[in-house]
Parts: sequence; structure tokens; C-alpha cells
Amino acid sequence: MKSKKDAFNDNSISVPFVIPMITKEDKIAINNALNSVLLTDGPKLIEFEEMFSKYTNSSFAIGVSNATSALMLSLKSCGIGKGDEVIVPDLTFVATASAVIHCGATPILADVEEDTMNLDPLSVRRSLTKKTKAIIPVHFAGKICKIREIIKISKENDLKVIEDCAHALGSRIGKKHAGTFGDVGCFSFYPTKNFTTIEGGMIITNSKQISDYTKSTRNHGITKTLNNRFSSGKPWEYDIEESGFNFRLDEIRSALGLSQMKRLDKFNDLRKKASEYYTSQLSNVKGITTPMDSKNNENSFHLYIIRITKDFPISRDILFKKLLDKGIRTSVHYKPLNQFSLFKKMAKSYDKLKISNLLYDEILSLPMYPTIKKSEQNYVIDTIKNEIKKY
Ligand SMILES: Cc1ncc(COP(=O)(O)O)c(C=O)c1O
Repeated sequence: MKSKKDAFNDNSISVPFVIPMITKEDKIAINNALNSVLLTDGPKLIEFEEMFSKYTNSSFAIGVSNATSALMLSLKSCGIGKGDEVIVPDLTFVATASAVIHCGATPILADVEEDTMNLDPLSVRRSLTKKTKAIIPVHFAGKICKIREIIKISKENDLKVIEDCAHALGSRIGKKHAGTFGDVGCFSFYPTKNFTTIEGGMIITNSKQISDYTKSTRNHGITKTLNNRFSSGKPWEYDIEESGFNFRLDEIRSALGLSQMKRLDKFNDLRKKASEYYTSQLSNVKGITTPMDSKNNENSFHLYIIRITKDFPISRDILFKKLLDKGIRTSVHYKPLNQFSLFKKMAKSYDKLKISNLLYDEILSLPMYPTIKKSEQNYVIDTIKNEIKKY
């Protein structure tokens, strides 16, 4: 395999883990936005928000600086604060739980299901206490979790549901998009995500109260947009009702988002094909478990995660190293939260986290990006299969 441009300038890499796709059109969109006089809090943001709310069929979309700030503002908009408990999956990126800590509340780590790797509704039930105020399900790797069961639990117990959709751009059940099942949905446009604004995020909701709260607190708590302030004649005449932050999404990132989002469904289709090809070639390999099949559009195929079980001749860690030696970048998503120093101190769990800890020893994310070539996938597949032949 020929070496490919690597994020860390390693010439030995032939199959990177992800490749961000910034096209000629994206560059034109960025340049046009750079030529504007208004560089933040402007028309491109409004256009991007409108496109996103239309795509996800939600009443409001609020652009923010990243998904972590989206989660923080969403929790605060739901009234989560000191003394409250918020249930999160143990197998997720740290931001899901650190957003809870930033609000003064305690993350409660719940276990995941072995087949979907998503938050287990039974573990959620075992994690409920009088202090529970919200649940943050993550649509892990892009696959929608058992969201209807989680909504049922929330209704029975008067809880808020904040969906972490960082992996789930375009994931839906039928026509209903990830992020529209609960009270609020939070998306990430980080460079590895299904489309990127480099840094960036979006909140979606059908609640005017959540929309108004997050719109003002992303911008210092100011109750008016720049446009409203200047068109009113007295730009300094605004009120502050809440202490806010600077979590704005600027015009350049919004313009990039508008341009990238046009290709989201096409990108996701290519991801789906690449995932299906991996599965067709790896599902019969002894010691490897491929991801569960997904129906309809319920999966954005953000990550392709296999399990290296004890029937495989070498461990996950050794396979990771062997693949890297052959120029293939893979990764592990994620080290479970309960194993981090911060969450040992600041989080709690009322359930055994058996599955997330078991999965952690076995999971391996294979290279996945819309433009991955069959020859690149075959190289990954053959390198894995060759390991069996050696034993
Ligand atoms: C599940 C999950 N939640 C939240 C985040 C945070 O996103 P951001 O980097 O946009 O703040 C990420 C980022 O990777 C993520 O994977």
C-alpha cells in the first residue's frame, strides 16, 4: 500500500483512521464568509440553523461552539444543578459526563448493552434515585440507542432526556431524527464527525423555553441578536437574565457547515457501504465480532467497531500494534468513564459496570471515512486475517 498523508506526518501510514473532507466548494464558502463584514452572530449562522432544523425536523436549532457547550447549556436549560444526579453511559467520550460536572450535578455511570454498546435501559432503571433529574443517552458509534424505552423511564420518573448525538448526524428511526426523541439533542461537528465545521456544535429542541435559554446563554446571556440590537436603534439596549458564556458559532464555521451538510446523506451512504463491506468480510472470522446489523437509517455509521474476543489468537492490544506496524491506524472508543481519575472522584455508579469494562478490553475501531477505498479496506481485512494464519 502506498503511504497516505497522515495527521501526524508519519510516512509509514497507508490507511489513516479518518480523513476530513474539505472540498473546493467548502473553501469557496469559507472565503466568501471571510469577506463578510459581520464575522460572528450573523446571517450564515441563521441559515445553518434553519437548514439543520429543517433536516432534523425540529422546531429550533441553536448553533454553538461545540457539543460539550451544547450539553452544558442543554442541562442548564433543563434546570439541572447542584445536588442533582444525571445518568450517563459508562462507555462514552468524557464530555458527556464532564458537562454534568460543569453544571454542579453528579454523573451516574450506567452500564451498556453488549450487542449495541448503547446505554442499557435496565441499568438506567437500576441507577434511579430520588436525586435523578435527567438521562443523557448517547447514540454510540451512530446507532440509535433504545431511546423509546429510555423516554418511557423518563416519563414514569419525571426526568429530562438530553440526547448526546455527537456520533449521530443523520441517524434516524424511520423519519424521526436522533435528537428529537427527548427534550433536547446535542450534535458535534468536530473534524472526525460525519461532517465538520472544524470545531462546532448544534442544539435541537421543540421547546421554545430551551431554545430561548440556550440562544441567550451561548452569548453572555444577552437577550437580543446583534441584528436585533442594531435595528432597534439602541444597540446597547438589551437585558441579561442569566449568566451566560461565549459559546458562539462564528460565520466562517457556519458557512463551512452549510456547505458540508449538503453532502451528509451521501457521506452517510458511503459509510454504510464501507461498514457493510467490512462486515461481509469479517463476520465469519473466528474470534471477531462485527457490529450488529442496522435497519433503515437508524445508524450514521460514524464508527466501525469490532470486538477481538478470546477466540482470536492475539489480544486487541497486540492486534492494534500489528496493524499500526503495517501502516493502518485504528483506535479504541472509549476507555470507560469509571476508569478515569476524575470520574472516580466526581461520578457515582449504583450498578455494576460489567459490560463496559468487558468491552473495553476487546473493542477496536477500524478506519472509517466516506472515501475509504475497497483496496484500503481489503488491506485492513487481509492484515487482520493474516494474523490467524500465523497460529
Ligand atoms: C459522544 C460524544 N459526546 C460529546 C462530544 C464532545 O464534542 P465536542 O468535541 O464537539 O465538544 C464528543 C466528541 O468527540 C463525543 O464523541
